[in-house]
Amino acid sequence: MSEFVTVAKVGAIPEGEGATFTVGDRLVAVFLSDGKYHAIDDLCPHMGASLGEGHVEDGVVSCPWHAWRFRVSDGTWCDNPKLGVDCFEVRIEGDEIQVRVPPPAESADESEDASSDEASG
Ligand code: FES
Repeated sequence: MSEFVTVAKVGAIPEGEGATFTVGDRLVAVFLSDGKYHAIDDLCPHMGASLGEGHVEDGVVSCPWHAWRFRVSDGTWCDNPKLGVDCFEVRIEGDEIQVRVPPPAESADESEDASSDEASG
């Protein structure tokens, strides 16, 4: 089970901008848009630019390389809403911005606790 991880202090990300943080084994882009923090996958699915370096306007970040646009609230690709990047939960705890990234394997595969005891006698 994953937990919320502190990535920055409130105020560290200016309005309309983003920043990139490592959370677990993911790169997460956190944005401040209209006074609210949002977190999506940092990796642009086009050619891998860092979306955290993009500019945010009207809740949409433009990729710094070729200007593909993604909604920061849910990662939707504005040019094809069927596609998008992952988005993550964000919360404010005191003066800290915290992000929760689910574990890589989301399969509900429940492994049985098989204990083998070899007793002879
Ligand atoms: S790498 Fe993001 S639009 Fe090309």
